[in-house]
Formats: sequence, C-alpha cells, structure tokens
Amino acid sequence: MSKVTTQREGNVLVVTLDNPPVNAFSTEVRNAMADAVGEVAADDTVEAVVIRAEGRMFSGGADITEFGSAPVHPTLPELIDAIEDLDKPVVIALNGTALGGGCEIALGCNYRIAVPGAKIGLPEVKIGILPGAGGTQRLPRVVGVEEALPIIVTGNPVSAQKAEEIGLVDRIVAPEALREEAIAFAREVAGRAEHPVSSRRTDRIEGSDPAVFDQFRARHARRLQGLDAPAKCIEAVELATRLPYDEGIAKEREFFMELVNGDQSKALRHVFFAERQAGKIDGLPKDVQPLPVRKVGIIGAGTMGGGIAMNFLTAGYDVVMVERQQDALDRGTAIMRKNYEATARKGRMTGEQVEAAMGRLTPVLDMQALADCDLVIEAVFELMEIKKDVFGQLDTICKPEAILASNTSYLDVNAIAACTSRPEQVLGLHFFSPANIMRLLEVVRGDKTSPQVLATAMDLARKIGKVAVVSGVCHGFIGNRMLGARQDQANALLMEGALPAQVDQVLLDFGFPMGPFQMADLAGLDIGWDPDKTSSSTVREVLCEQGRRGQKTGGGFYDYGEDRQRTPSEAANAVIRDFAARSGNEQRDITDDEIRERLLYPMVNEGALILEEGIAQRAGDIDTVWVNGYGWPPHTGGPMFWADTIGLDKVLAGLERHAERMPDVKISQLLRDKAASGGRFNG
Ligand code: 3HC
Ligand code: NAI
Repeated sequence: MSKVTTQREGNVLVVTLDNPPVNAFSTEVRNAMADAVGEVAADDTVEAVVIRAEGRMFSGGADITEFGSAPVHPTLPELIDAIEDLDKPVVIALNGTALGGGCEIALGCNYRIAVPGAKIGLPEVKIGILPGAGGTQRLPRVVGVEEALPIIVTGNPVSAQKAEEIGLVDRIVAPEALREEAIAFAREVAGRAEHPVSSRRTDRIEGSDPAVFDQFRARHARRLQGLDAPAKCIEAVELATRLPYDEGIAKEREFFMELVNGDQSKALRHVFFAERQAGKIDGLPKDVQPLPVRKVGIIGAGTMGGGIAMNFLTAGYDVVMVERQQDALDRGTAIMRKNYEATARKGRMTGEQVEAAMGRLTPVLDMQALADCDLVIEAVFELMEIKKDVFGQLDTICKPEAILASNTSYLDVNAIAACTSRPEQVLGLHFFSPANIMRLLEVVRGDKTSPQVLATAMDLARKIGKVAVVSGVCHGFIGNRMLGARQDQANALLMEGALPAQVDQVLLDFGFPMGPFQMADLAGLDIGWDPDKTSSSTVREVLCEQGRRGQKTGGGFYDYGEDRQRTPSEAANAVIRDFAARSGNEQRDITDDEIRERLLYPMVNEGALILEEGIAQRAGDIDTVWVNGYGWPPHTGGPMFWADTIGLDKVLAGLERHAERMPDVKISQLLRDKAASGGRFNG
C-alpha cells in the first residue's frame, strides 16, 4: 500500500497521506508526495489540489529517526517549494494535529482549512532544532512576527480557533465534512486569478518593530539560558524581517544543520525517544491485555494522596479517598479543591470541570468503602509496619481481582506484597511531588507482580498523562537511589570545606532548577526527623533543633526572606563549619569542577549498578526518570546519555581520581567494561 495516494474528483486532485502512526514525512512519503506533485503539474485537466491525511492526526512532522544521516532528496524544503511553485491552487485539510514539517507543508499551500480540534505548531525547538523547512521564514510572513515568535520559540502549538484568528487557517470545518469541504473550497478558488503564496508575502512583516526581538529575548531570558535552539529560532525570525526570502531560507538551513548535528539536539532527541521506549516492557507476552479500571481507591489524604487522587479525577475516574480522621480528610479534600480552583483561575479548566472532578471524589473514613475498587493506591506514612498493616487489611477488604499498589519512596515492595494472599496483584506506583503536576511515575515491579498487572499500570499511566518507567525492587528504586548517591557526596563536600551555596551553584550552572540543599530546604529538613529522639549528631539534626526546618520556617541551609529568596545563612554555615572541623577532614578550597564530578559521576555509577542488577530495563529509562522527576536538564539527555557524551573513560577516571574521598562508592563493573571497550550505555 502506498503511503500517498491520489484520487480524481472532477477537476480536483486529492492527495492523501497515510503513514501511521503519526504520518511522519519519511523519505518514502516525500518521494511519493513529489510524484503526486509531478502528476498535478503534468495534467492540464487538474485545476486545483487538496492535500489531506488519513488517521488520527495530520502529521507529527519530519521523520525524526532520519535526522543525523545525510539528507535524501527530495528533502522536505524541496518538496514544500515544489508544492508552492505549482501554478494551481493547493488547499490543505488538517484533520488534526499538524506539527513541525506538518505545519510547514501547510504554510507552503495556498489555503488551509482545519477541524476544530486541530493543534498546529512548530515544536522543533523542543528537540533542539529550529523549523528547517521554511517555518521560520513563512510563518512570520503569514501571521506576523509577534504571533510567530512564541509559536517558534516555545514550540507550543496553537488551537485551530487561534490559528484562524491569526490568519494561519482560513476556515474551520466539521471533521465529518472535511474532505468534501476541502474539495468544494478547491473548486471555489480554482477560478481565481491569484492565490496567496506565503514565501512571497510581505504585508505582515513590513515595518515590524526591530525592538520586538530584544524585548522577547529579555522576557524569556530564563527559559532560553544555556540553550542553543531558541536563540537561533529568534535570530531566524529576525532575519525574515530583514532579508529577502531566499537569503532568509539559506540562513535557516545553515542554522538547522548546525543545530541538528549539535550535542543539545542529539540529547533532546534521545529524551524524546527514550520517554516513548520507557513505556515498553521487555519480555512481556504480546497478548497480555490490561485489566479494566474504573474506580480507584487512595489511602491517605496527605501531600501525596491528594495529588494522586487529582490525576485520576481529572482523567474521569471515580475515586474513593480514605483517611483515619475527619480533620485530615477535610484538609486533604480542601487542598485538592484549592488546587483545582487555581488551575481554573489560570484558564486551564472550567468551573464545571472543577465541579465534575470533585464530584467524582468520595472522601471516607472507613476502609470498607474500598471493597469494589479496581485499584487501590496506598499513600500513608513511610513506615513498613503501617504499610504491612494496611495491605493486610486491603487483602481482606478488596475484591480478589483488585490491584493493590504502594506509593512508597524506598520500602521493599516484595515485603509489602508478602502481607497479602495475592502478591501477583501488588506493585509500587511511585508518584512524584506535586503528584498532580510531575510527569514521572515509577512502576515498581515486585518479584511476583503479574504481567497483566504491570501492563495495566503502564496503560493507566498513559491514560492519566504520566511518563511511566519500570523499576525493579531496591532501596529507593531508580530515582531516589541515584539521588542518595548524589546527596552522600553533597554532604561529604560540606565536611571538606564547601558550603551549600557553592555546591548548589554548580548544579544550577549545569542546568538543574535547584541544587541539593535548596531542594532539602524546599522539602523540609524535618522529614523523618523525630524531636523526641534527636541527638545533635548530624548537621540536619542540629538545624532542625534550632528551628531551621527549611523554607517553611524561614531558614534551613539558607535564610529566606518574605519573597522566599534564599541568601547564604551565617547561622547554618557556622553549624556546618563546626561539624566539618570535627570531621577529621582537611578543610580546603574545592573547585567547581571537582564538585561537579563528585556529585554527578557517582550518580552515573549508581545508574550503571542499577542497569547491571537489572533494576532498570535500559539506560534510556534512567534518563527518563531523571529528566522527568528530578529536573535533570533535558538538553544534556539525562545522566546516562550525558556520561556517554562526555565519555565513559572520563567518568571512570574521575571516579578513580576521587576514590579516596569516596570510600563508599563501589565502581560498577559494567561501567569499567564499557569504559575499556569505548562503549556507551545508550545504544
Ligand atoms: N518522527 C518519527 N517518529 C515519530 C515522530 C516523528 N516526527 N513523532 C512521533 N513518532 C513516533 C513515536 O516515537 C512513537 O513511536 P513508537 O510507537 O515506536 O514508540 C509513535 O510515533 C507515536 O508517538 P507518540 O506516542 O508520541 O504519539 P502521541 O499520539 O502521544 O503524540 C505527537 C503524537 C504529538 C505527534 C508526538 O509524537 C510528537 O510530539 N511528535 C514529535 C513532533 C515533532 O517534534 N515534530 C517536529 C519534527 S522535526 C521537523 O518536522 C523538522 C522540520 O522542521 C524540517
Ligand atoms: P503525609 O504525611 O503528607 O500523608 C500521609 C497521610 O496518611 C496522612 O494524612 C495520614 O493521616 C494518613 N494515614 C496514615 N495512616 C493511615 C491509615 N492507616 N489509614 C488512612 N490514612 C492514613 O505523607 P506523604 O508525603 O503524602 O507520603 C505518603 C507516602 O508517599 C509515603 O510512603 C512517602 O514516602 C511517599 N512519597 C512521598 C513523597 C513526597 O514528596 N512527600 C514523594 C513520593 C512518595
């Protein structure tokens, strides 16, 4: 079956694209499209053209898997030029999402119609490139600079309605009538003497204010920092206003080639594919079908329980939430409502949607209400005894086919499963805080978890919009185990003469949104701290004893003003220096390079151990965890991809160089082997 077919409808030639799953413009598709364009040019009886697509969207754009190899003709820019050069009008019918090359091809057509649900955009910047098939030059000519800049630089698509408002789409048409309306439109315009041609338009860019670009740069300075692609996107649009089209396009091509071959784009493309790969479980029988889940139970209405419940309520599931005491239940429910209302105020939900979501929630004090739930997620205190007790009760209360999950951060999921008569129905579902916002979900596979339960969890994760990664059972699973490796070194560095601000700054410079001590202050230093058992034996304990329990108390490792801005704290630093002096370590000036190596190399090493032990299925899964759950800068690809990029021999040499100061770091054999053979973690 050809991926592009043509049908005659009187004087109109309908060209249909059909390349599941996302109608990407692969070499094969481009060739077939070019043939169709040739057919139009050669046939005098064709007076107008409709380009349309089969499937659930118009197109996800160029085929990203082909990036990095030598360009094959016809390239996408060549194909779009050929469409634009036809002396017959071309109407494109967007049956859904049109991204990247999918939007650029639309810009090369004379007329564009779309269904109401279509989303149109240029997300290239998110994979570290810029639109390279004319998007940076045609879009500003069609919609003007002020509308084009955010679309190209943020990569966020616009709705069909917005597209119509700004002139990117000519008409909005009901989905069922799209094909017929497109043909009728083509007939309607066939007789016109002239048609709009994007690349030749100047009406929207003439006289644009050159100050707009610097203002845009200033407004988005933070999100642009350290990133190559957005800067080039802005420059390319700026050039569209100053250079003739052909020269602008030549610059766009030059920027595209530079970016696509750069490390940042390689890393971001890795992140894109790794996230999608993470949802696939090796060795699972092909025919396993996920179990139906309609009603979800949540135990605990605290920080995590409430956030987890919101995921399911938003996605349309009925939720029963259980607490021990009425006040805790009321507090938890009130916070959920407050969060929903804040979302509504930002215009991301309607009032009716808020009420509908809250209406699906049943808050209760009696565990018996969980009897008919298909899935129950426990989010009570992080104490094994309590979890065991809860799972023992669940086993007697819940229907036999119900799935029982724990949101534990560290505890042994196998031991929890062993408290039930159905360990095959038990697994970990480790959400991240704030659970209604963070995209990551670690799905913890117990030794006995059944393939069907695992498949159900992956399916559910997709339905509630999470990026799921499978982890085996170990202390802290993938993410927190590696975080522990980093935190050990952060603490050790304080004992050797560094201060929190220096340690944190190194990670900020690397691209993390915050460093380990900022993170500790945000989470609260008193997590797991017991005022009755405190013994002044660690920096953290003493800070808690002094009432410095983090941001919420106005001080922790840092001092915080009213505006929550941090400043280095003399009081906290004095505590640190006191412990450091008594630690027996030589106090020295530590370079930023050493800090970076000490924090990040042990994480890579822990990741290698995690792979070696089979806790993670693949290196890309570890990268997905860190990019989506812990703020690892995506443009470096995640810890394992970053290590591949800088060279595993370099990482190993660094670990060996610092070995004396890191006696607890056991170097992974997998890392040694790969370093010796010049291998990589990611294929
Ligand atoms: N090229 C190659 N494969 C792609 C692809 C693309 N542009 N877009 C998606 N895929 C693949 C995915 O890897 C996945 O493969 P798998 O089934 O083997 O895992 C499959 O298609 C389905 O993708 P999703 O699971 O992401 O499907 P969704 O329905 O959730 O989302 C989408 C669809 C919104 C189109 C999303 O896939 C997406 O955002 N894709 C990338 C869009 C993009 O960045 N386009 C720009 C490309 S660059 C370009 O056009 C360059 C030009 O300027 C020269
Ligand atoms: P929390 O203290 O905010 O909430 C726990 C809630 O459980 C409390 O409201 C408590 O009243 C309730 N509870 C305790 N025993 C109960 C029982 N037997 N029946 C019903 N309710 C009961 O704790 P938080 O932060 O929500 O953590 C819950 C779990 O999630 C822990 O296992 C934690 O390790 C894990 N987790 C926490 C994260 C975080 O950032 N806070 C992140 C990921 C996981």
